[in-house]
Amino acid sequence: MEEVYLSKTHSIMEGTTEDIKTGIDNQDFSGNYIENFKGKDAEEFFPGRYVSWEKNNNSFVIHGQGAAIEATVIHSDIIKFRFGNDGYFEDDFSYAIDPEFAPAPVEYKFEELKASFVIKTATLRCYINKENLTTKITNNEGTVIFQDEKGYHWQDHKFHGGTINICTKVLQKGEKFYGLGDKTGNLNLIGTKRELWGTDCYGYGNDTDPVYKNIPFYMGQHSHVGYGLFMDNTFRSFFDFGRERSNVCSFWAQGGEMRYYFIYGPKLVDVAKKYTMLTGTPKLPPKWALGYHQSKWSYYPESVVRKLGEEFRSRKIPCDVIHLDIDYMDGFRCFTWDKKKFPKPEKMIADMKKDGFKTVVIIDPGIKIDKGYKVYDQGRKGNHFCTRQDGALLKASVWPGACHFPDFTRKRTRKWWGTLFEGLVADGVDGVWNDMNEPATFEDGTFPNDVRFDYDGHPCSHRKAHNVYGSLMAQSTCEGQQKYLRNKRAFTITRSAYAGVQRYASVWTGDNSASWEQLKIANIQCQRLSASGVSFVGSDVGGFIGSPNGELYTRWIQMAVFHPFFRTHSSGDHGDKEPWVFDQKYLEIVKEFIELRYRLLPYIYSTFWQHSTTGIPMLRSLHMEAHVDPETFFREEEFMLGDHIIVCPVSEEGKDSRLMYLPKSHWYNYWTDKLEEGQREIKVATPLNQMPIFVRAGAVIPMQPTMQYVGEFKIQELTLNFYKPFVETISQLYEDAGDGLDYLDGDCSTKTFTSTPSGLNKWKIIQHIEGDFKTEYKKYQLRFHGLENKPGSIMIDGVERIQDLKTEEHVLTLKTETKFTEILIN
Ligand code: NOJ
Repeated sequence: MEEVYLSKTHSIMEGTTEDIKTGIDNQDFSGNYIENFKGKDAEEFFPGRYVSWEKNNNSFVIHGQGAAIEATVIHSDIIKFRFGNDGYFEDDFSYAIDPEFAPAPVEYKFEELKASFVIKTATLRCYINKENLTTKITNNEGTVIFQDEKGYHWQDHKFHGGTINICTKVLQKGEKFYGLGDKTGNLNLIGTKRELWGTDCYGYGNDTDPVYKNIPFYMGQHSHVGYGLFMDNTFRSFFDFGRERSNVCSFWAQGGEMRYYFIYGPKLVDVAKKYTMLTGTPKLPPKWALGYHQSKWSYYPESVVRKLGEEFRSRKIPCDVIHLDIDYMDGFRCFTWDKKKFPKPEKMIADMKKDGFKTVVIIDPGIKIDKGYKVYDQGRKGNHFCTRQDGALLKASVWPGACHFPDFTRKRTRKWWGTLFEGLVADGVDGVWNDMNEPATFEDGTFPNDVRFDYDGHPCSHRKAHNVYGSLMAQSTCEGQQKYLRNKRAFTITRSAYAGVQRYASVWTGDNSASWEQLKIANIQCQRLSASGVSFVGSDVGGFIGSPNGELYTRWIQMAVFHPFFRTHSSGDHGDKEPWVFDQKYLEIVKEFIELRYRLLPYIYSTFWQHSTTGIPMLRSLHMEAHVDPETFFREEEFMLGDHIIVCPVSEEGKDSRLMYLPKSHWYNYWTDKLEEGQREIKVATPLNQMPIFVRAGAVIPMQPTMQYVGEFKIQELTLNFYKPFVETISQLYEDAGDGLDYLDGDCSTKTFTSTPSGLNKWKIIQHIEGDFKTEYKKYQLRFHGLENKPGSIMIDGVERIQDLKTEEHVLTLKTETKFTEILIN
């Protein structure tokens, strides 16, 4: 092909002599990155030398001899890359990117230099080498952040057709890697190779890979700078973080187009936030979904479910949700009831509801082959089921025996599936739990590769649709419920997922086991998922498989109080896992911690709102809180819930103390109010009835009275816990009706508290209220923490109130009419 050079620069700025160092070191790349396809004849192809370029809106397409590269400026911190083999790109279609993501106009410059092109944004420089189309991204300070090693290249997939697309990057000195969904193993992924191919992995362990979810997003950090890489490709894919070659990080997919987003931080927490804004955030869940859930495979018949509810209420252990696993169905036929076990489901659900229990039911994708079964007949008539290559329907076994499976990648089928929820919603069901949607089958683990999918107008095989199947099932489930719930909020849980699933569903970490190691794994999985856009996350408390002893169950409950999705679930094969199964001493502590969860609901709900509106993860690992502090790089047990609470689960048996690291800041021990200075490791007492919980100095933590379920009674008094500040600290309390969609029309309010130390022993709190949602409580209880002695004065909006302060507790009660805007403590 003839080389064409540009005759004039497209630069808005004068070209400079800056140039690119490619980082290519001519190493032999013989890594085994082509699973199932590694032969001597595996030829590698490269984009080759630059030939010509063109501009389309914010995209620059640079044609090489062998492939074209398209670089699109999405945001000053986000550049999207696509690679078109032989000069052609695929249709730019994505299930991950939020259709509502509307990037603001962005300023950038494109220049041609002697040996490269450069795109300059307010924060980044992206160089594309003319010699071989390799890329290098630096920040404005010139720190190299992301640099090609071999860069993009591909191999023909001789067996399936298409190509295997690979990118290799230079692994920078001291680089650390986080994210990638629900992976087990160390939080820092360095030195590992991971696979994304959603798998039903019953009883998985620390070395199991792949697991259930497929989130091709990771974050890297080196030189105190963090970035993210999101490869938007649903084929089976791999990530190697210096395992095959210690100086190379690579990612590849067994088909499709190489398409990735580079996301600049520089803080890791900002990377996670930007990734989440790109792939979307959830709407607010009904508040009850943040309460405690009790599940088992399975609670039946009806009398057992009723008894379960009675036990919770008579023992005064708060609980909002009961889950019904597959045995509620008639022969495992989805959308039916076993009328012997549940003769009048709508009556049972209504009665449970009167007692404050919501009902969530499981729905799997396999539809029993059974003429006369309505769902099956509709699916057949409507051509909703997946077919094999030659047109025959896919047949595989799951719980009901031989089944067909909906093609959730077809819009028409998602809509049909949505209609099936009409009956369940009419029966009073409040939420739906999607399982086995990797998709899992009993014969071969999953569908054969030749199964056909619509992929919304981009027909393909199972190889491309597998990793997104679970997400689309969850989307269709969520949308279906929402349609019939009308003005109530839908609640969906899913086991498998692709990037962006958070827009539709919460997730749990699947079939774990009852062991101390698994408590640690659950902790890491939840932090990792949260960093990967999915904050509404939890694990089966106590372990799905096996029986925890009282201590393990108690410690797991303590951790899960701080996980957004809080559910005990059990396989039912190894004994029960209701709180009262354990000895009294454990039961009492479990009860206290579930009560703590309910008291913290205003804080947790506000944290959810913050996530939903800004994308910031609800759970934050230490490296997100303090990304420049080397101590945080390998810490993995401590985590933050929201801006101001840090906890460290007790993950070993028989420990009455443990070490934990507090990041830079000042922290109050939740149990004692003892002040601790951060940026150091401390030893914390961990008697069985305590887990390390610390509150940031300056925080305002809103708490409500404990209750048996959300909405049990009208809250009369909201406690605002003010922790004395060392630096200006902002806290937010979000309030709305807790269900319904009126909040979307503005029926909500946000109270922003700015707490500042002002002068010796003086402390000022300013409140700014937005929105005029009418709260049910009539009083605030202001509780001041960190005051050593009785202060001389407390001025609230200019009025002296020191006489109202209860001295021992430092508590002051205010009527809510007093919309205080300023508190001055002296
Ligand atoms: C597998 C799920 O992971 C588990 O939670 C559920 O109880 C069983 N399927 C039965 O539905």
